[in-house]
Amino acid sequence: MVIKNIDAATVAKKFLVRGYNIDPKAAELLCKSGLFSDDIVDKICCVANGGFIIEKSVVEEFLRNLANPKPKPEPKPKPEVEKKINEVKASNSSLKVIKDITGKSSCQGSVEDFLMYFNSRLEKLTKIIRSRVNTTPIAYAGKVKGNVSVAGLVNEVYERGDRCYIRLEDNTGMITCVATGKNAEIARELLGDEVIGVTGVIKGSSLYANRIIFPDIPINGNGEKKKDFYMVFLSDTHFGSKEFLEREWKMFINWLNGEVGGKKSQELAEKVKYIIIAGDIVDGIGVYPGQEDDLAIKDIYGQYEFAASHLEEIPKHIKVIVSPGNHDAVRQAEPQPAFDGEIRDLFPKNVEHVGNPAYVDIEGVKVLIYHGRSIDDIISKIPRLSYDEPQKVMEEILKRRHLSPIYGGRTPLAPEKEDYLVIEDVPDVFHCGHIHTYGTGFYRGVFMVNSSTWQAQTDFQKKVNLNPMPGNVAVYRPGGEVVRLRFYGE
Ligand SMILES: [Fe+2]
Repeated sequence: MVIKNIDAATVAKKFLVRGYNIDPKAAELLCKSGLFSDDIVDKICCVANGGFIIEKSVVEEFLRNLANPKPKPEPKPKPEVEKKINEVKASNSSLKVIKDITGKSSCQGSVEDFLMYFNSRLEKLTKIIRSRVNTTPIAYAGKVKGNVSVAGLVNEVYERGDRCYIRLEDNTGMITCVATGKNAEIARELLGDEVIGVTGVIKGSSLYANRIIFPDIPINGNGEKKKDFYMVFLSDTHFGSKEFLEREWKMFINWLNGEVGGKKSQELAEKVKYIIIAGDIVDGIGVYPGQEDDLAIKDIYGQYEFAASHLEEIPKHIKVIVSPGNHDAVRQAEPQPAFDGEIRDLFPKNVEHVGNPAYVDIEGVKVLIYHGRSIDDIISKIPRLSYDEPQKVMEEILKRRHLSPIYGGRTPLAPEKEDYLVIEDVPDVFHCGHIHTYGTGFYRGVFMVNSSTWQAQTDFQKKVNLNPMPGNVAVYRPGGEVVRLRFYGE
């Protein structure tokens, strides 16, 4: 509904409650247009494209387009090759890759790339926070009387006595947030470089927090999706390592083929339709000092041939989804693309290759696959977390809606123009590996699984006190039960 005779201050307020600041000249322009409505405010916020200040030029262009609407471009048909990558339908399985860096990387590692990367992170996560609270750009927070909410990237956290100080920045400025009591406890667990919201009251130049808001996921996730098939989660097979557990792998394959276990176990195996492998398919070459002593196959191509021959043993009606990890032959910086063609060609036809991370849709079940290198960084920052309960670390990742929040830790990040590591869409299943331990759990309706390994403890792992839990397999029916199978130590 058009609102006549509105003044610039009221227009500015309408934008402010939506988390935007409007240039006074732009507000004036809207008043004079005689077209002002709440609907127009929403539309202008959309075309602001993530910027927090609505410039006069944005309003001018919006009004111009309103007078002379541009014809909508015809949707371009997707190139055949893209269609082939994005949608694979083999037998009666259905897999659609929703998000994956493969074939889309464009970063050069320049300063501009890093700026764009962190801007993308800030915009995507601020948008999620804004869907729950109205935020004000940091530069304008001081002008708001009473409670004000801001959202920004955590630049620094430090303590003085029992208080915690958070330096928070967005693309308009930086503010110090003061956290006490329960909020100080939350602030102590901030990782740095994540995006949070803070609600509080301005005193002097600081914001005294009464609430710290994580982007988080909705209480009930996406709601329950009941399916009649099972997914099997594997990772860290480390084919090519001397410690690869050949006997245990064979037992797993025998189970998949219905050759071991009782009737119940066989019925379970019969209903397995998908196997997802979250990285470290092979042991790789030169990943850590002295690794050559731990290798049974010292040639990377030979390691993948060995891996492919083992995946060949999986029944062909099962779709296998393979994502790389830090031991694999792709770039180390995340997001990692899928294996290149030469390696992909070694694998059987029922294997689909995706990047790390990859967000896939399996018959309507949204699965987020991430190798999990950032788990090391997060455990080193939050003392209450440990390698024995990987699902608790995964919960922190979901809460922050970012797979690897810490920049400059053990996880190298590639500054892509878009931050692929932001968890934009809420998954139904979140699958990690990397730390060679096993853990499952649910967080706000999302099934989390860290899927163990097929490598026994190496000398290197002994030295760094890493105790793996090999041969543990999670079998999950979406919307139903989780079964833990143990093939090691039986
Ligand atoms: Fe691994």
